[in-house]
Amino acid sequence: MSAYQEQYQWAQQKPEQFWQRQAQNIDWFQAPQTILANDENGIERWFPDGVMNTCWLALDTHCDQGRGAQTALIYDSPVTGVKLRYSYLQLRDQVAVIAGMLAAQGVTKGDRVVIYMPMIPEAVMAMLACARLGAIHSVVFGGFAPSELAVRIEDAEPKVIMTASCGVEVNKLIPYKPMIDQAIMDSRWKPENVFVLQRPQCEAELNQERDIDWLQAQQSALPHACVPVLATDPLYILYTSGTTGKPKGVVRDNGGHAVAMKYSMSAIYNMPQDGVFWAASDVGWVVGHSYIVYAPLIHGCTTILYEGKPVRTPDPGAFWRVCEEYQVDVLFSAPTAFRAIKKEDPQGESLKQYDLSQLNAIFMAGERLDPPTLEWVVSHANKPVIDHWWQTETGWAIASNLTGVEMMPVKAGSATMPVPGYQVAILNEMGQAVEANQQGFIALKRPLPPSCLPTVWRNHDRFESGYLSQFPGYYVSGDGGYLDQDGYLFIMGRIDDVINVAGHRLSTGEMEEIVGGHPAIAECAVVGIHDELKGQLPLGFVVLKDGVSIDDITLEGELVSKVRDSIGAVACFKHALVVERLPKTRSGKILRRTIRQIADGESYTVPSTIDDPTSISEIERVLRL
Ligand code: COA
Ligand code: AMP
Repeated sequence: MSAYQEQYQWAQQKPEQFWQRQAQNIDWFQAPQTILANDENGIERWFPDGVMNTCWLALDTHCDQGRGAQTALIYDSPVTGVKLRYSYLQLRDQVAVIAGMLAAQGVTKGDRVVIYMPMIPEAVMAMLACARLGAIHSVVFGGFAPSELAVRIEDAEPKVIMTASCGVEVNKLIPYKPMIDQAIMDSRWKPENVFVLQRPQCEAELNQERDIDWLQAQQSALPHACVPVLATDPLYILYTSGTTGKPKGVVRDNGGHAVAMKYSMSAIYNMPQDGVFWAASDVGWVVGHSYIVYAPLIHGCTTILYEGKPVRTPDPGAFWRVCEEYQVDVLFSAPTAFRAIKKEDPQGESLKQYDLSQLNAIFMAGERLDPPTLEWVVSHANKPVIDHWWQTETGWAIASNLTGVEMMPVKAGSATMPVPGYQVAILNEMGQAVEANQQGFIALKRPLPPSCLPTVWRNHDRFESGYLSQFPGYYVSGDGGYLDQDGYLFIMGRIDDVINVAGHRLSTGEMEEIVGGHPAIAECAVVGIHDELKGQLPLGFVVLKDGVSIDDITLEGELVSKVRDSIGAVACFKHALVVERLPKTRSGKILRRTIRQIADGESYTVPSTIDDPTSISEIERVLRL
């Protein structure tokens, strides 16, 4: 039996024994006696009586073990020209003081803290400071607009918000404070305080009653110790797009998460304890949570926080420069980043200027790794390129090539095989397993392994109805795909209204709600169409209300601004086409899949249930214009 099969079968046949063994690799305050048990909702929970603290695992334990002088965090910011290094000891001490600063405002275990910050070290420190107190952080991606932030504030009900005065994008500053003010005004829930870190690029005006100057408060704060929490206590809430306008608050627990993070660093990424790990993502996404912050630090690595882009900061050699400068062992990013590099440097000239001998592998996730991008990176970087599939809901890879267990041959277009602990099944609409090479719903047999969400924040019904009830005994991933005859998993894309734009997960359903809210619009459909660079881009089709007269260009401009103002620039909603009618079934369901196929130039069959076949030619007509 191969090493992979051995691990996989161990985890499948004796999950409690397997995960108890993995749990021994972290430094518990009180090791769990119970490994798996059902909670009050009937959901399987890992290590329910284990007592620990995630910040302790990420920082203090390494200092205690005499590794305090090792570099924990490297901050590299081509947009500001700043480079900084923090040892484990320095990071621990600073995080302890920030925890003290939060505690001085009454933040305690179980309180929520919203973090709306750019990619600066204080964002990482804020997350770890919350973990230190047992407070639950909810990081909101800096590219989201105030209304998205408001929805999250209202749902998480944070005691305080932590922010910075601005973000720095390529050639532009994004003042954060006005967005925070707007979001708090729009939200029914009002936080007691807002900590504002003043950045020199753009200082914010503070509201004397509510806002606190972060650096001043930090100067007078006392360090706070790690607060023991149960493994099942929440570490964070991370909102992710679902099929409606209301994002889902994915809850991550402390213990299962820490064990899975630690296991993944060895089994999936094959990282030495003192190695350098670089996830070129953003702390606002799950990749940033897991692989910029928690996993590398829990494993004792050096992690890199990069405030820049793959291109234009200043050139397409940026990724390779960072890899050489910090001797990166493993690089992890989204395929869209490499497509951007390839577009600007098709011959890979900039790669040749850097010594990448230290780099062992490049991992990709967030969207499908298209074979041309895979080929380009392999041929120019001359390194193993590993596609792995995961979701905000799981917090770590469901399928991957396990480079630390056994490197398997790569098949282009496949995320390789299920990671030990995940039982992947391909089901048909009746919930029956289909044969190899047949597409279906990708489902995960319960129990899910450690780190996977146990619920949706304060909305357990949504967890049940959105993930568990369709196929009893299984979690439905929302992705479709197939397993081939060798057991390789191929992800073919979402089967719901979620799209991935430049590795950012967005809801077309939400965009439809916003577009449909325009006074001129009777109804609309937003679909994700193929884009060479960003993987997918949203495209709107709108039907005007009778009697409305507005020219198409003006309307498109208004709809684009409306989506940008509501979701943020990251939505990349740039086009809306006016049609006479939308293709629908006789029961009134909009045929979004057919619309998308037409827009992508794919072959399609018109469903026999279509209400008005001329609506198809109408879509074709506007796309030709
Ligand atoms: N704060 C504020 N605005 C942001 C932002 C942030 N953190 N991130 C992006 N934006 C804005 C951009 O400035 C841009 O605004 P514009 O329309 O006014 O120009 C808009 O959102 C779209 O940004 P983006 O999708 O990033 O497009 P881009 O053309 O600037 O860059 C890529 C394209 C491919 C280089 C970039 O998307 C990228 O690096 N992607 C990798 C994504 C990733 O790491 N995903 C995580 C999963 S691993
Ligand atoms: P997020 O929750 O933002 O990480 O997005 C998760 C979704 O991104 C998944 O449900 C997939 O649709 C997509 N995704 C992530 N990784 C991959 C991958 N390696 N291949 C194909 N799709 C992926």
